[in-house]
Amino acid sequence: MQASTLERVVPGVVADVILDVRNVTKHYGGIRALDGLSLQVVRSEIHCVLGPNGAGKSTFFKMLMGTERPTSGSIHYDGRDVTRLQAFERARLGLSVKFQNLRTFGDLTVFQNLFIPLRRTCGPSEIPDRVSEILRQVRLPGVENRLVRHLSHGQQQWLAIAMSVASRPRLLLLDEPTAGLSAEETERTAEIIHEVNSEGMTVVVIEHDMGFIRSLKARTSVLHYGRLFAQGSFDEIAANEHVRQIYLGTE
Ligand SMILES: Nc1ncnc2c1ncn2[C@@H]1O[C@H](COP(=O)(O)OP(=O)(O)OP(=O)(O)O)[C@@H](O)[C@H]1O
Ligand SMILES: [Mg+2]
Repeated sequence: MQASTLERVVPGVVADVILDVRNVTKHYGGIRALDGLSLQVVRSEIHCVLGPNGAGKSTFFKMLMGTERPTSGSIHYDGRDVTRLQAFERARLGLSVKFQNLRTFGDLTVFQNLFIPLRRTCGPSEIPDRVSEILRQVRLPGVENRLVRHLSHGQQQWLAIAMSVASRPRLLLLDEPTAGLSAEETERTAEIIHEVNSEGMTVVVIEHDMGFIRSLKARTSVLHYGRLFAQGSFDEIAANEHVRQIYLGTE
């Protein structure tokens, strides 16, 4: 799937674009978090976004999800201009996000946490089966009745992914899904992402962990100072001298 996706984005070939970000700028007072960012995501691909701290990655997700609005520029999802739509309207169109900070509820059970997104898309009688199915998918079978604060950090990350895939979105956005995870947990997270992608979900992942990005075998965009700095396969990005320099802080 990834090889054919890469072929389709070769210049001159029309790609099946699900997300088209056009010249988006976001100012916070004098800070330009995004500064004319243009980026396209192809339907059914896994797309990685990396960049140094403060590059604008999380701001990019806020613009996509509609929790904040761009200062200028536009966002097109599935051929439709969604720039002015609210977050709940974008969620209805099939966008879903796991933000950088975990948004799980520690004093509720795993089942109750999943009930929250599922009640919008499932009838009450379907929910228990769907909860079991999602928990198997994120490698957490049988934990329905555990209090979330009793789960390990890794398990809480997977629950947060479970909550964002519960509504079967078409475009899944994951902001640093492996933050604080062990090497083994990181590997399992890559498997989970490949699995949801193989069911047809387009996935955009913000990450710093190079080993993890390599294992996703995804097309990769590098942000720097709120702009698209480089784009290519992971191997092309890893070999790019300018990308190394911005990570080392010499450019
Ligand atoms: N609500 C805000 N108010 C003021 N400045 C903000 C706000 N949100 C982000 N910024 C600034 O915008 C810039 C981009 O921030 P952003 O969180 O998007 O970076 P990031 O690439 O996600 O970084 P990290 O890798 O550390 O998560 C930073 O300089 C940040 O301080
Ligand atoms: Mg961030």
